[in-house]
Amino acid sequence: MKKSLIYILSIIFSIVLCSQVKARVTGVCSNCHTMHNSQGGAPMAFQINAGYTGYISAVSPNPQLLLTGCVGCHTALGGSTWKDPVTGAPIVYNTGAPTSCLAGGNFYWVANGADAKGHNVSGIASQDEAITTAEGAPGGSGCGGGSCHDTLALVTTTGLLVAPGGCQGCHLNVMHHANDGTGTKYVDSAVKGWYRFLSGHMTANNSGVKGIEDRDWGYNDSSSEHNEYLGVAVDKTGSTSLTNGSMTAFCCGCHGDFHTEQDSSGIWIRHPSDTVILNSGEYSNAFGADGSGYGIYNPDIPVARPSPQTTDPNLVYIGTDMVMCLSCHRPHGSPYYKMLRWNYDSTSLTTALEGCNVCHASKN
Ligand code: HEC
Ligand code: HEC
Ligand code: HEC
Ligand code: HEC
Ligand code: HEC
Ligand code: HEC
Repeated sequence: MKKSLIYILSIIFSIVLCSQVKARVTGVCSNCHTMHNSQGGAPMAFQINAGYTGYISAVSPNPQLLLTGCVGCHTALGGSTWKDPVTGAPIVYNTGAPTSCLAGGNFYWVANGADAKGHNVSGIASQDEAITTAEGAPGGSGCGGGSCHDTLALVTTTGLLVAPGGCQGCHLNVMHHANDGTGTKYVDSAVKGWYRFLSGHMTANNSGVKGIEDRDWGYNDSSSEHNEYLGVAVDKTGSTSLTNGSMTAFCCGCHGDFHTEQDSSGIWIRHPSDTVILNSGEYSNAFGADGSGYGIYNPDIPVARPSPQTTDPNLVYIGTDMVMCLSCHRPHGSPYYKMLRWNYDSTSLTTALEGCNVCHASKN
């Protein structure tokens, strides 16, 4: 009797495990799709209301027969939900102050008027008042005409999922039905939807970000469980291209000049990204390495690696691993100035240097 109960429980447990390891959408189609945008004569498509206090039904049907758009599925009312209980969608915007954020951070602060605390993204925040459309992405050359390089607060066409803009300015080709990894699988191709659906266009067409996707999107991250990002240490005197698959090159698709980090004599003129953390000087003490060459991975200050797929997730390899854009920034938004990972703007020196100190071990 007891044995068969254990047997049944173990089956249930393995079913649960199975559904957990699949890093693609699961569940009944009707959780997310509507065949005619009609049920008992009433429209099924919905969107978040203008005040972000609830949902309203939208009469017009969405592309790909979806019930709602990016913001509709990836938003939660209130501050505590990190994963939608019905669809399993990871939450990137909580309408209340989030109790915990995923790896990308959260759009809560930028949605509440703090322009410098997030990317101003269509459907969540209007144009940044300090960085206008005409100025465009800092460090970028812009394209004019309200393109994603100038602003992410506009969508150039009306149809959701039709033309890039807003969320799709970065997540250019969403592929929710692609099997994109299990937490140990390296996501490195278009078939897998690239790392978190981050890909490029024009000269970077058919290129995207490569890395290993943490199953909980960094919700419960620790030194042993976290995302992994590819880094490629290319020339620091000029630009980089997403054809190399790095997260840094992805950011530089819009903030290109920030990759011109050295002058011709090799002097640093901008903070390096995708530059190896040297195993000398103060850097040999980075991540608590104490000269051993191995530090403890800190998911609050992630690094990029030359071969994420073969690396021990627990360690930072000093002399091999790299500082990158996401070592300091959260791509969606954070509670801090310039979407930083810690309060660099603080009047307390200890707090302001919290993140810098992890690598610049003798500057505290
Ligand atoms: C948890 C939400 C979710 C569920 C459940 C879901 N889908 Fe989707 N589906 C999406 C989203 C989001 C898109 C649009 C964007 C994309 O392709 O990433 C999509 C796109 C599609 C597309 C067009 C793109 C493609 O990949 O071919 C088809 C067809 C599709 N779904 C069929 C289905 C069917 C059939 C089911 C049920 C077996 C289903 N979906 C269940 C979310 C879902
Ligand atoms: C119908 C609901 C639905 C819609 C609409 C939708 N998503 Fe998702 N999205 C999901 C679900 C569910 C997952 C989690 C799938 C999984 O477990 O990997 C997801 C996952 C993601 C991920 C993480 C992918 C990964 O590798 O873990 C990104 C990025 C994303 N969505 C972006 C978008 C963007 C951008 C749009 C609009 C173009 C969008 N989503 C529209 C439901 C949706
Ligand atoms: C400026 C580029 C950019 C924009 C705009 C953007 N994202 Fe992301 N997003 C990223 C990056 C980069 C990551 C990967 C973060 C990581 O793994 O550290 C990410 C991760 C995600 C994830 C996985 C959860 C997480 O936090 O890692 C989801 C879901 C997602 N984005 C959805 C969205 C939605 C929905 C929008 C629009 C409301 C959006 N993104 C707008 C760059 C962007
Ligand atoms: C598709 C273009 C695009 C990509 C890709 C992009 N950004 Fe941006 N970024 C912008 C634009 C436009 C602005 C100015 C308006 C705003 O703040 O939203 C901006 C502003 C910023 C700001 C200043 C925020 C403020 O309001 O003061 C930071 C920091 C930033 N980006 C970091 C990043 C990082 C890190 C990445 C890579 C994960 C990235 N960006 C990728 C377009 C982009
Ligand atoms: C060592 C930490 C660090 C790294 C690495 C880093 N940044 Fe920054 N970034 C900052 C800080 C701090 C600020 C705030 C302003 C300042 O002190 O210069 C900032 C500001 C910005 C701004 C806002 C500029 C403006 O005009 O308001 C953008 C955009 C930006 N960073 C993008 C990037 C991109 C893209 C990368 C990767 C190529 C990157 N950052 C790498 C720390 C960093
Ligand atoms: C993840 C590691 C890391 C973090 C975090 C980091 N840095 Fe750096 N920083 C580096 C590396 C690596 C170099 C380049 C060292 C070299 O090769 O000369 C560098 C270079 C610099 C330089 C130029 C030094 C020179 O020799 O000219 C300054 C200044 C600097 N960082 C300031 C900061 C500040 C301020 C912060 C916090 C906002 C910060 N760094 C955070 C790794 C980091």
